[in-house]
Amino acid sequence: MSKKEILGSLQRASVIYRTESGEGRRVWTDVSMDIHEGEWIVVIGPNGSGKSTLASVLLGLCPLSSGQLIYKQDEQWITRGVLQIPDAQFVGDTVQEELDYLPNAQDLTIEARAEWYRETLSVVGLSVPVERALHTLSGGQKQLVNIAAALAVHPAILVLDEPTAMLDPAARKEVRQAVREAHKRGTTIVWITHRLEEAADATRVLGFGDGRVTFDGEPRVFFYGDEGGDRGDLSVMTPCNELGLDPPFVVKTAIGLLQQGCQLRLLPIDMEELAEAVSGSCP
Ligand SMILES: Nc1ncnc2c1ncn2[C@@H]1O[C@H](COP(=O)(O)OP(=O)(O)OP(=O)(O)O)[C@@H](O)[C@H]1O
Ligand SMILES: [Mg+2]
Repeated sequence: MSKKEILGSLQRASVIYRTESGEGRRVWTDVSMDIHEGEWIVVIGPNGSGKSTLASVLLGLCPLSSGQLIYKQDEQWITRGVLQIPDAQFVGDTVQEELDYLPNAQDLTIEARAEWYRETLSVVGLSVPVERALHTLSGGQKQLVNIAAALAVHPAILVLDEPTAMLDPAARKEVRQAVREAHKRGTTIVWITHRLEEAADATRVLGFGDGRVTFDGEPRVFFYGDEGGDRGDLSVMTPCNELGLDPPFVVKTAIGLLQQGCQLRLLPIDMEELAEAVSGSCP
């Protein structure tokens, strides 16, 4: 398989925030990573480890104290972001106003806009009237409006910082589905989360600990370690354990089954894989 194009590259990037007292506070040290076209990177780490700083850096909202961020394309819209609190990102009062603020809307006639609103919302599977006041939408619908607005300018990379944190399970599913569709259409995804089960969507997991990248690799290796076969052994530390994080239900279940002497067909990272792993293999 040919190597995918590098869309963006962080090279030995460090961030020092200025606190109110004027002191410098180092929150990122020598962070290096390439973002390749077509990836779905899930960023995981404990509170305060520097995950949101990654979103801010990629979106151009936080300057680096040293190191470099290089984007392949010199485009204005290479990255767009969706953050944790749905309402915090709105600039309009209605869905229509929200979309009208986008640069693409400016080039359209009033007549052409109606079709464009419909298309823009259908990309995330949303079919609310554009006259709807944003405050009357559910949390999930609000996040879908934010994702639709972000995707409307066709960014190469969509950066999402805990987009499902405020949502109920049904809305979380809708948001994940909308982002999966965008990924299928070619958008590269950087998804920051505390919900470790969301790593199942990832092509790559980036683990953050104390402002440094502690892990960069496949989700299965993040949860089960390099030599995944011996996970029945409780003394084996995985990259997930090393960050002090509790693995998701599916992974804990699989490890429990291995400890009970079950032979698993694979080391599962989602429910479908767990079902496949256990079919006919327990003593
Ligand atoms: N504007 C700021 N000024 C000073 N310190 C900041 C600022 N923003 C973040 N920090 C500090 O930088 C560190 C990393 O913050 P960041 O928000 O990137 O962490 P995070 O991994 O996203 O945490 P969480 O899981 O709680 O969202 C934290 O110690 C935080 O207190
Ligand atoms: Mg954060």
